[in-house]
Amino acid sequence: MKTQNHPRRSFASDNNAGVHPEIIEAIARVNQGHVIAYGDDHYTERAVQQFQKHFGKDIAVYFVFGGTGANVLGLQAVLKSYQAVICAETAHINVDECGAPEKFTGCKLLSVATPDGKLREEQIKPLLHGVGFEHHVQSGAISISQATEMGTVYKFAEVKALSNFAHKNNMLLHMDGARIANATVSLNTSLRKITGDLGVDVLSFGGTKNGMMYGEAVVFFNQKLASDFKYIRKQGMHLPSKMRFISAQFETLLSGDLWQRSASHSNKMAQLLAQELRQIPQLELTQPVDANGVFFVMPKKLIPEIQKKYFFYVWNEEISEVRLMTSFDTSESDIEDFVALLKRALK
Ligand SMILES: Cc1ncc(COP(=O)(O)O)c(C=O)c1O
Repeated sequence: MKTQNHPRRSFASDNNAGVHPEIIEAIARVNQGHVIAYGDDHYTERAVQQFQKHFGKDIAVYFVFGGTGANVLGLQAVLKSYQAVICAETAHINVDECGAPEKFTGCKLLSVATPDGKLREEQIKPLLHGVGFEHHVQSGAISISQATEMGTVYKFAEVKALSNFAHKNNMLLHMDGARIANATVSLNTSLRKITGDLGVDVLSFGGTKNGMMYGEAVVFFNQKLASDFKYIRKQGMHLPSKMRFISAQFETLLSGDLWQRSASHSNKMAQLLAQELRQIPQLELTQPVDANGVFFVMPKKLIPEIQKKYFFYVWNEEISEVRLMTSFDTSESDIEDFVALLKRALK
């Protein structure tokens, strides 16, 4: 078995982090006796109540194993296969889900180039020309990621403008909230104010990147949209039998301030990292640092050397742009050490 003598933290992904100790405790706490499987248990009931506390009583919420499943099944529930999903070119559904959205929803993705990962009405309008014409896919949903894959965060007015536009054009607004906690603390708001209150119809609510072991939720802000979801989830292979272990994690994440604490620490570490990197003249930050991602261009030849100690991903080979992600467990000393290493290499 391969073990690590010195546990190390990298900046590769918030998924590379471990599990928050309070979540591990929660899993251990519910590991007692037998309860009914597939979600018909009181832990799941309590977790659902936490979602209702944050998002309102009128939601429908379902837990799934992962984020790809949440996105795919959430979209599948509200769309027909002749419809299309409009998304950013950088969207996880477009580039990191191995075509699962197309395969399982049958819907075409219409992707839009957008340098900061955000969609805007002007970019979407030109895609609507085939409405009502049987030879064209019919736009069914706009999907946005909050925070975006480029580490930016949509402001309130930006989300509202997109939901108004979507609804005016008979579309729904889907939000990939794998990092919704990071976006929410970045905007110093509540989970509901940046989602349902702004007209989001379906939300993939992320737990894993915020310290959970696994588990995401699909939140419908109109229960009618969820009328078939229990069948869609089962057929889509995302009905966890030992549901209590996901539910316990969500209850712990949402009942106190753990979701906020972890996300705000992670965002703060990204700010600190960005602040340090801005002082190094050979580097150039390429995106605003709104959440927990830092993007910058660095000399290509140094990348492999730095990656040996702190692994991270090259985002854009052509311009030598890299992506660093912070997480709930990133420490100031990780940042100091990384920056010192970078400075030594640049000398
Ligand atoms: C924006 C976004 N959406 C969704 C996901 C969920 O992916 P997974 O299926 O790996 O849980 C990720 C994970 O990297 C992501 O970055």
